[in-house]
Amino acid sequence: MIILGIESSCDETAVAIVEDGCTVLSNTIASTKEVFSMSGGVVPEDAARRQVECILPVLHASLKESGLDIADIDAIAVTRGPGLLGSLLVGTVCARTISTLWKKPLIGVHHTFGHLTSVWLGADPKPCFPSLTLSASGGHTDLWYRTAHTKGELLGRTRDDAAGEAFDKGASMLGLPYPGGPSIANAALEGDKKSYKLPIALAGVDTFDFSFSGLKTALKNTVKEHPDDTNNLAASYQEAICLQLTDRVKRALKKHPEIQEIHLVGGVSANLRLRELTREIVSDIPVRTPSEIRLCTDNAAMIASAGYFIAKEDGIPTDVFETSATIPLDAFIH
Ligand code: KG4
Ligand code: ZN
Repeated sequence: MIILGIESSCDETAVAIVEDGCTVLSNTIASTKEVFSMSGGVVPEDAARRQVECILPVLHASLKESGLDIADIDAIAVTRGPGLLGSLLVGTVCARTISTLWKKPLIGVHHTFGHLTSVWLGADPKPCFPSLTLSASGGHTDLWYRTAHTKGELLGRTRDDAAGEAFDKGASMLGLPYPGGPSIANAALEGDKKSYKLPIALAGVDTFDFSFSGLKTALKNTVKEHPDDTNNLAASYQEAICLQLTDRVKRALKKHPEIQEIHLVGGVSANLRLRELTREIVSDIPVRTPSEIRLCTDNAAMIASAGYFIAKEDGIPTDVFETSATIPLDAFIH
């Protein structure tokens, strides 16, 4: 089954074509990250305008890259939420239009469900269940115990900021450009992670939830005392975020020894220190990350893949979905 996926939830405009949930036939992304690099974050109105400019050229480019005709596409999958409403509307209106014109079924996909599926893209051998999936991005930080694509239990989630948001806000305090994850990771290469002891929230507490607001305040106070020590602060801050994430992974593994694989997904899974720390705590089962760095951050291949697994496990939905800035994931994983 060949699915054309569209992702437009934030500042990336992306269209991809994927066969049977795993083989990427094209993956085109127009990113406007550099536009927002000095404003410290995305400006929603500007992001939506850029989506309007980019969506049709990206759609054409992706079809061309795949070498396929419209007749070869079996279904359209699109991110229906959560995200910035103006940006989401551009992708969903485009998807509804081509679904009607081309007479293809339309599958609305939860953005995070796309991230959860991203480790299937280009994977050989294919991932398996039960898996423990840490999904960390700029908008969410979730820890899932999953027994199938559409079946699982949410073990923990952030109580305040998302891990990616913590990177972005931390970078802004350190005077580093947006997006903060790569900026902090780069600065950390030149720093010593043991320079400052920053707090790991909820470490001794019986929960798999996350919290980053106290850490952010601790960084703010430390920057005031040591304003010029950017690299050491970046290294210590990155370490504190990654240690909190891996603390929950370690404890969840103890609770579920039957887990076969660990999956790290979402923009923060591009972080090399997070990957290294996870591999240090897990020696006997595979730790999987998306097969390319650009599949960690927002892309449409993961949406096409998720559309395939929704159709395979639950059938192609016949109801028309609502576009929504804040939808829960329960409709996709139950
Ligand atoms: O998944 P994503 O592209 O978009 C959302 O769904 O939010 O994630 C973007 C987030 C940003 O907060 C960015 O700072 C973070 O992922 N990120 C990273 C790295 N690359 C991107 N965080 C840590 N280390 C990285 N190398
Ligand atoms: Zn995302």
